[in-house]
Amino acid sequence: MKRNIILIGFMGSGKSTVGRCLADRLGLRFVDSDARIEEKAGRAIPQIFAEAGEAGFRRLEEETIAEIVEAEGQVIATGGGAILSEMNWRRLQEGGWTVWLKAPFDEIWRRVGGSRRRPLLLGEGARERALNLFHEREPLYRRAAFCVDASGSARSVAAIIAAAWRAQEGRHDFESRRG
Ligand code: S3P
Repeated sequence: MKRNIILIGFMGSGKSTVGRCLADRLGLRFVDSDARIEEKAGRAIPQIFAEAGEAGFRRLEEETIAEIVEAEGQVIATGGGAILSEMNWRRLQEGGWTVWLKAPFDEIWRRVGGSRRRPLLLGEGARERALNLFHEREPLYRRAAFCVDASGSARSVAAIIAAAWRAQEGRHDFESRRG
């Protein structure tokens, strides 16, 4: 496993905010996969969805994730749907220590309901659709190596992850010294 922390979780679980805070705390580089996708495409995510559809976005997402996990020493915030592709999941698992930011749906909806930056949350019946996605994806997020309750402040969530990261790095060092 590479020396990266990979944040996964539903839209609005705080992956980017917590990720930035965590990277600062641990002296790691922060990388946001959605921002990288936008840079690569030279367009914002809603525009990518409008022009290339969700499938076009997912292709770009797969390419971008493959590139990001090449490097080490990063906190990586993934998009909420990154775990839908088995190929991504394999790359993420090999690419670092996966952490699920788990928050209750009501909290998620309070944060992102009505967001215009998230194409999957637009239009009629958005709450109902989001709730279905939330349930469908839960078993996929559950595969992460570590799960944290993400309903608190970004600072407190980052502190919990940082402590767990240090503990697991310690175990890792010990095991590699033991051979
Ligand atoms: C998506 C989540 C978004 C973004 C895209 C699709 C999803 O990222 O990648 O709109 O399928 O859940 P955030 O989780 O950062 O909102």
